[in-house]
Amino acid sequence: MVSRIIPVETFDLVVFGGTGDLAKRKILPALFKRFCFGQVPDGSKVVGAARGKLSTLDYRSLVAQALREYGGEMAQDSEKVSAFCEHVDYVAVDARGEGGWTELADMLSPDVVRAFYFSVGPGVYSDLAQGLQRHGLVADDTRIVVEKPFGHDLETAQALNRELAQFFNESQIYRIDHYLGKETVQNLMAVRFGNMLFEPLWNAQYIDHIQITVAETVGVAGRGGYYEKSGAMRDMVQNHLMQLLCLIAMEPPAQFEPDAVRDEKLKVIRALDSVQPHHIVRGQYTAADGEMSYREDVDNPRSKTESFVALKCLVNNWRWAGTPFYLRTGKRLSARDSEITVVFKDTPHSIFGPEAGQHRNELSIQLQPNEGITLNVTIKEPGPGGMRLINVPLDMSFAEALGPKLEGTSDAYERLIMDVIRGNQTLFMRDDEVEAAWAWTDPIIQGWEARGDVPKPYDAFGNGPDDADVMMRRDGREWRGLDK
Ligand code: BG6
Repeated sequence: MVSRIIPVETFDLVVFGGTGDLAKRKILPALFKRFCFGQVPDGSKVVGAARGKLSTLDYRSLVAQALREYGGEMAQDSEKVSAFCEHVDYVAVDARGEGGWTELADMLSPDVVRAFYFSVGPGVYSDLAQGLQRHGLVADDTRIVVEKPFGHDLETAQALNRELAQFFNESQIYRIDHYLGKETVQNLMAVRFGNMLFEPLWNAQYIDHIQITVAETVGVAGRGGYYEKSGAMRDMVQNHLMQLLCLIAMEPPAQFEPDAVRDEKLKVIRALDSVQPHHIVRGQYTAADGEMSYREDVDNPRSKTESFVALKCLVNNWRWAGTPFYLRTGKRLSARDSEITVVFKDTPHSIFGPEAGQHRNELSIQLQPNEGITLNVTIKEPGPGGMRLINVPLDMSFAEALGPKLEGTSDAYERLIMDVIRGNQTLFMRDDEVEAAWAWTDPIIQGWEARGDVPKPYDAFGNGPDDADVMMRRDGREWRGLDK
């Protein structure tokens, strides 16, 4: 059985940066997969646009090659790949000049949904936006998709928002955070708002703390130039972890609709307390197992950029007052493991006496790689010997529970691109959300810069710097182990 496909209208999608890494790894494979699942209507077109002079045939073979490399099993079927390539065209466009725009205009159909994917550096956004307007390519419902990083700090994000706002309405701008497109990230909302079980307990009265971990085993080799200027705070915390925090902490929106959801997320970001310097730990991985250190990867022996961040923050509102949220992310850690754990408070009184032990419930939502939900519940240890309590997991791996239904679910880019075509902005960031996230992040980064803070070294393929554990222990808590 495959998942239900919601049809979309016929579309023209122009990918600026169509020969780039993101297009090859994510955007084109995502479109190809949706095509294989019958979601790309006849008459739809994918137009790659970049500076290089390529014929349509050259571009199609570049696309086919990218699909073979990154498109998974289905892309090994050359007939399917050729059929998809029939939808693909190419045009060389000079973003800052006049070249190619008329040819691009001639390729597009007047009556279909039109979207432009800016898969290029933010420095070119404004040129592209102007070019599109100058050549009359923008209608009222034309959409643009912009990638992260959306700015480098609050000021640059505001400037970008202002520039785009000169040419497009907010309802036309789709700012991607691909974490919002992940199946299990959406499941956070389903778990919270589709079950009566959790929501009444979802507050400071019953929850001791919440942990959000996004751990990766990869390093930054190959993208050192970008990463060195960004670091884990800008690369992961300001966007992906912040979005996860919002979905966990927000009030129930009245409807699952773009502004209703985004209004609630925004309130969470605005309620965040500023982070105290002793509530944050930065780290940088060292060399191990034949892999280079962070400093070698970015070719800067004195780098002060962090590849790991752990922090404690508070959401200052009625629901969460006093409940800490611990966020942790890093490269070159012992496992690829993204999960959110909600740790409930101990029962107020143990009727079984001290020998029975204290126990608490934990709800753990595993985002990747093995999606699932585990709820730790306390039961009597079986057998004689009195009332001894143990914790056992109620464990639901989605792969086991849903089996074949999971096949055919779309990955983040597939879902998000189809949402662009549908005109659904629920899973995209609004201008004020992005700015609020920077407004919270900026003082933290500025503090490091002002103090000349140097990240703590940590062993590659370990759990991050010891200080991250110390920070937790000071609060009488501990991080959940990274699942291998
Ligand atoms: C990207 C970051 O946004 O997300 C990368 O720039 C990171 O540094 C990646 O590796 C993680 O995404 P995923 O989907 O692999 O968890």
